[in-house]
Amino acid sequence: MIARNVTTRMNRPVQKSLLFSPLTIRGFTSRNRIMVSPMCQYAAEHGLANDYHLVHLGRYALGGAGMVIAEATAVEECGRISRGDLGLWRDDQVEPMRKITAFLRRYGAVPGIQLGHAGRKASTQAPWHGNGPLTDADRARDDPPWPVVAPSAIPAGEGWQTPRELSEAEIGEIVVSYREAARRADEAGFEIIDFHGAHGYLLHSFLTPISNLRTDGYGGSLENRMRFPLQVVDAVRSVWPEGKAIFYRLSTLDGIEGGWALEDSAIFCRELLKRGVDVIDCSSGGAIADRSRDVRIRRGFGFHTPYSAYLRKETGGLVATVGLIVEGQQAEAILQAGEADIIAIGREFQDDPNWAHHAQAEIEGENFDAWHQESGWWLDKRAPLLRKLRDNGETPMDRYMPAK
Ligand SMILES: Cc1cc2nc3c(=O)[nH]c(=O)nc-3n(C[C@H](O)[C@H](O)[C@H](O)COP(=O)(O)O)c2cc1C
Repeated sequence: MIARNVTTRMNRPVQKSLLFSPLTIRGFTSRNRIMVSPMCQYAAEHGLANDYHLVHLGRYALGGAGMVIAEATAVEECGRISRGDLGLWRDDQVEPMRKITAFLRRYGAVPGIQLGHAGRKASTQAPWHGNGPLTDADRARDDPPWPVVAPSAIPAGEGWQTPRELSEAEIGEIVVSYREAARRADEAGFEIIDFHGAHGYLLHSFLTPISNLRTDGYGGSLENRMRFPLQVVDAVRSVWPEGKAIFYRLSTLDGIEGGWALEDSAIFCRELLKRGVDVIDCSSGGAIADRSRDVRIRRGFGFHTPYSAYLRKETGGLVATVGLIVEGQQAEAILQAGEADIIAIGREFQDDPNWAHHAQAEIEGENFDAWHQESGWWLDKRAPLLRKLRDNGETPMDRYMPAK
């Protein structure tokens, strides 16, 4: 089903899709339903954003994405996944981010940031240095390990550090760190906070019985295991402006015997929505370091859509889905089927930063109106010339092919 027909600036009729219909959440309107999924870049020093982050995120705004979410950003120094993560645990980390949010807004994207604490999966190597826990051997690269914390003293896997079990007072301090990081994210100009509540990091590690064996008010029953993440959400909502949105990325299921299940997610997400979370961002897995043991989660095209569809139906909230969504028609079909409200895309944007524009051409036909004018104006002028050459049967390789 196609939503409606409109006429563009260039008077070409265009079929409007759901994917490219605007979406309003609280005080902002996204130009489409496409979100760049948060992706760690391992490129920060001392948690500070730099030109690399501006270019990395900025190119997706130029490429037509509606919402661009900056990578997992640590609320405490010891909560970094790797030493190269962004951070918002100090006030001086705000300023370099302002340049990024201003650029994203100028080129039509809603700026968002993911806030996280890596818990027992902190202190890791960049993927290209092994993607495992930092060890003494990493000192040679000036990247020594640091102590990690968790709900219980259980390592994430073989060879991983045994974390120190957090005291109740320390849990309270981390709640304050989240609140302070949110205040800084507001000052930096972000309009969306996407909690990193997935992939075995601290918030997730409290939820799942795989890593939470506590016997106090933060462990045991589902209600107790949800307590810390919900306290974090309440603290952040208390300082995050009414007009700005909160997304919560969770692992909708662990995919491991005895772990967090989809039905638990439905109960948890209802609590999130009551507390002012606007979008449930559906991912999965990661409760333990060895992802090959997430046996029940098969990674095919659009692999989280069954889970986002379930939570959308069960909770009535807005949901985002992610995972091997690579074509415009596929994204549109997911929305049309009611399996999600927002399409999040990671690696496909790395492959093609103009993915949103290309998806729009795929679904609605070629039209450079939506491009930033510095490129769109030229591409629009070039398009009829390319068409004419192709209609004449000419190809770019003609001059270099042996004469027949
Ligand atoms: C380089 C890279 C970094 C990532 N970093 C994060 C992150 O910071 N936070 C997060 O929630 N997911 C992270 N992910 C997962 C992606 O956001 C996304 O959920 C996953 O790649 C599946 O989507 P895709 O198939 O569109 O890439 C990362 C993925 C990649 C490839």
